[in-house]
Order: sequence, then C-alpha cells, then structure tokens
Amino acid sequence: MKRGLFITFEGADGCGKTTQMGLLAQYLTSKGYDVLLTREPGGKGLGEKIREILLNYEGEVSDRCESFLFLADRAQNIDITVNPAIEQGKMVLCDRHIDSTVAYQGYGRGLDIDRINKLNMLATDGKKPDLTFVFDIDTETSMKRVGKDKDRMESAGLEFHNRVRQGYLELAKQEPERIKVVDATKSIEEIHAQVIKIINNYLSE
Ligand code: TYD
Repeated sequence: MKRGLFITFEGADGCGKTTQMGLLAQYLTSKGYDVLLTREPGGKGLGEKIREILLNYEGEVSDRCESFLFLADRAQNIDITVNPAIEQGKMVLCDRHIDSTVAYQGYGRGLDIDRINKLNMLATDGKKPDLTFVFDIDTETSMKRVGKDKDRMESAGLEFHNRVRQGYLELAKQEPERIKVVDATKSIEEIHAQVIKIINNYLSE
C-alpha cells in the first residue's frame, strides 16, 4: 500500500489553525482521501492525560520538565497514532508537532535549540512531517482572540509570544520546502483558499 502523508499545523495560540485543519480535512475527504486528525499535546489516551498536566497544572513546572512532557506526548502520538495511520496510506493531519517545541520551548522559554532539535528527533524516531503550515499572526491580535480565559501556556505573556512568533518565522526561513507560512489575519475563506493552493501544489509534485 502507498504510504500516506503527515501534515502539521503550527502557529500562535489563537491563530485559527484548528479551524483550518478541519476545513482541509473536509476538502481532502471530499477528494477521496482517508484522513485522520490528531493533536499534540493530546491525541488520545495517555496523550490526553499529559495534555491535562501541561495546560492546567498550577504548581511550578521547570522549563526542561515541560519540554520532556511535550516530547513524551509526541513519542506516544507518533508510535500509537501517526505512524500506523501513515502505514495504512492515510493523510494524517496533526494540530501542532515538532516546530511547536522549537518555537515555544526554544525561542519562547530560551532553551538550547540544537538540543531541542535532537530531542525532537528522538521523539519522532528521526522523522519530520512531509508538509507544515505556519499560520502567522501578530501577537496582539492572537492574544485578543484567545481572550481572558487563558491556559498555562497562553498566560506566558506578550514578550514570550512575540518570541514564539519570531521562532516560527525563523524556522520557515530555514526549511522553506517543508514549512509554508500563511497570513492568518485574512478571512477564514481566504486562508482556506491559500491552504488548498499549497496542498494541491504539493500533491501534484
Ligand atoms: P492548545 O490548546 O492545543 O493550543 P492551541 O489551541 O493554540 O493549539 O494548547 C497547546 C499549548 O501547548 C499551546 O500553548 C502551545 C503549547 N505547546 C508547546 O509549548 N510546546 C509543544 O511542543 C507543543 C506541542 C505545544
């Protein structure tokens, strides 16, 4: 059977990537693809328990511990959900993946990027997504969209989220073949049209 594809959705909190992932899933399904949706942190089972800790734990969490929890969740998601589905020829769409850890724990928290890259490769068994969308939006707008009810990560402040945004843009510069930046300040329809253009280009190559 032909191997499936692994496509990831990245960007700031409140950038609208989850909406776009849903719309792309509908589009691909209508074209006859077998689509599987997952997310990090989370996905299912143990991953959802790790997510709960990461987003809602109220005590002190060290930056390195936080990173390892995201990475543990990633290893679980790759082994239990992503890889088996790709082997079955599915299109796997994942809400956040390796680039979130580089952007948030690396650029945001200030941990060493080379080390994070190595740990990411350990968590994914050396694989990267086939294609990644980064939904780019200015931090003030994205934080307004998130609103007052913020989780642990969303509460990290404007400076932190500015660094995260710059991290994503830097990553896209380093890997332009894999990472496509989409202007997330546009309307949902315009962004969706852009996503479809990129995916169709990719699929026709
Ligand atoms: P989530 O509710 O999925 O945020 P969003 O809806 O914006 O995607 O929460 C995930 C949070 O965890 C988000 O703030 C980004 C953060 N995160 C990291 O800091 N590092 C990571 O490796 C991952 C996967 C997520």
